Amino acid sequence: MKKITIAIDGFSSTGKSTLAKQLAQKLQYVYVDSGAMYRAVALYALEHKLIDDNVLNTEKLIASLPYINVAFQYNNSLKASELYLNEVNVNTEIRSMIVSNAVSIVASVPEVRKQLVALQQQMGAKKGIVMDGRDIGTVVFPDAELKLFMTASAHTRAQRRYEELVSGGTTVSFDAVLENITSRDHLDSTREDSPLFKAKDAIEIDNSSLSLEDQFEKVLALVNSKLAIA
Ligand code: CDP
Repeated sequence: MKKITIAIDGFSSTGKSTLAKQLAQKLQYVYVDSGAMYRAVALYALEHKLIDDNVLNTEKLIASLPYINVAFQYNNSLKASELYLNEVNVNTEIRSMIVSNAVSIVASVPEVRKQLVALQQQMGAKKGIVMDGRDIGTVVFPDAELKLFMTASAHTRAQRRYEELVSGGTTVSFDAVLENITSRDHLDSTREDSPLFKAKDAIEIDNSSLSLEDQFEKVLALVNSKLAIA
């Protein structure tokens, strides 16, 4: 059976990772959360005091890049990949609001992107991959057979992320989540290197009022039509 590459881009909290995981499971493809990789570099920058009052020491971060090793490892009992930063499992830490507030600044550094994009391209070299992020269909896999661009209203997205964080035990206010989402949307869409935008051959999915099941069925039909011509 031929395998394709599926690129899912879109704004924060549009349900990219939920859809990507569903697809990867159904198709027996590898799932890669590229945002987790940027979050790990942001965590490194925070741990090494390279960010002070929201200002990043870009030069020091670039000099540190050879010492930043980001890798996924499959956890058999969780049946999911977890992210390791220099051999340490940081899967939980990278989801904190502190990291969320720093990540878009770190992700705007071209040298950081170059290092992570090279890794992402290696992971997808044999196809059979579903990757979600901001520049997957535009930069990482411009030849992906299926490109999706996910959107939803900022309020819907903030509500989803707020519920996710609270149910995971994080104390946070709805307003802080909304503010983080809108500020990342802005930074991610306006940065010079690989800004977030819909590739011209991407299919837009606004899931503000689409159930997970309906969305999955809709996308699966798209996958099948691409597989038929692959
Ligand atoms: O989970 P959420 O959608 O909020 O974000 P994420 O996918 O974990 O990505 C976190 C941040 O990493 C984004 O806001 C971007 O700044 C950056 N990112 C990126 O620049 N390029 C990607 N391919 C993926 C994420």
